[in-house]
Amino acid sequence: MPLIDIIAGARPNFMKIAPIIRGIEESQINKLSYRLIHTGQHYDNTMSGSFFEQLNIPEPHINLEVGSGTQAEQTGAIMFRYEKILLENPSDICIVVGDVTSTMACAITAQKMKIPVAHVEAGIRSKDWTMPEEINRMVTDSISNYFFTTSTTAGENLRNIGVPDDRIFFVGNTMIDTLLSNINRLKKPTYWSKFDLKAKNYLVLTLHRPSNVDERKQLTDQLFTIAENSHNLPIIFPVHPRTAKTLQSIKDLPHNIYLVPPQPYLQFIYLIQNSKAVITDSGGITEETTILKVPCMTLRDTTERPETVFLGTNELIGTDNKAIKPSLDKLFADNWKQGTTPEKWDGKSGLRIVCAIEDLFRES
Ligand code: UD1
Repeated sequence: MPLIDIIAGARPNFMKIAPIIRGIEESQINKLSYRLIHTGQHYDNTMSGSFFEQLNIPEPHINLEVGSGTQAEQTGAIMFRYEKILLENPSDICIVVGDVTSTMACAITAQKMKIPVAHVEAGIRSKDWTMPEEINRMVTDSISNYFFTTSTTAGENLRNIGVPDDRIFFVGNTMIDTLLSNINRLKKPTYWSKFDLKAKNYLVLTLHRPSNVDERKQLTDQLFTIAENSHNLPIIFPVHPRTAKTLQSIKDLPHNIYLVPPQPYLQFIYLIQNSKAVITDSGGITEETTILKVPCMTLRDTTERPETVFLGTNELIGTDNKAIKPSLDKLFADNWKQGTTPEKWDGKSGLRIVCAIEDLFRES
């Protein structure tokens, strides 16, 4: 029976692996076995444990426990520890998802040990090399054998770097599988009544990119500009650990910004589904707001997910704070686009991936 390694390391990975694991477990033919490897890049309950619990992801078979560190420290530690595992017990294929440090580190390690690599969410590009994620995507795609894509643009990007057609599988978006399969299980956050929140009458803010949060002045200016142009609506701000470090040095935040810890998945999706709009620098959230048809403003200059702008509800506002006011004015004038659903974001992407992998092993 072929053994599949499934790698997960950081928060955005967990929603992407859940449907693949479910697909393998429900596989009719049941010829596949898997080993879930958590690198430990994210380790807090709020950044990791709660996702496993809420999304019914099984306990990892192995935890590499690398913890925090610089990009190079994390990459090196993951490679060293994953290599040991593979030396003792090699797998037949390594599935990596997304674009975090763990994705790239495990892809390199497996490929060097001649284990084929399958990249889920392959081919997306921001063309912004200052983002560590862009480097991770480029390296991972340059050494992967199989490419599972979320969009036709991602497929084109891969063809442009010479990936043959028969290695590219346009399967849709596993993060959206997770969204759709949990949409009836969402949970109202406990602070809902304490903050007197009302559906469609508050904003959600998330910021964690180094370019937005590492510098105190940039973060302060952003927060005040957003608060001043929000018609006094409550702004719920789940704070990523990286952002928390800078926030500690900012005194007297605007009164309508409510800080909350990183949210568990079911509470977070509840929060964005019921919000008037989301302001974010995340990539994944722009996909979720597209499906939920919630207006989304992205505080970045580029996106690797252009379909969320061309088809979805997302607009790239940029990192210049001057752009925030006109954008919020447009929202409050009820002038935001409705958006449509990207192709194959239909809840069946995990199954498509598992079927494709079964075919690969049948052929080999
Ligand atoms: C990582 C991903 C990013 C993703 C984000 C989601 C990379 C390069 N970046 O960035 O793409 O959008 O996760 O959260 O892989 N920390 C904790 N507890 C944890 C994990 C981290 O307190 O469980 C703190 C540590 O101080 C750490 C910092 O957060 O130094 C940043 O964590 P790290 O994994 O380096 O990157 P993220 O900024 O979370």
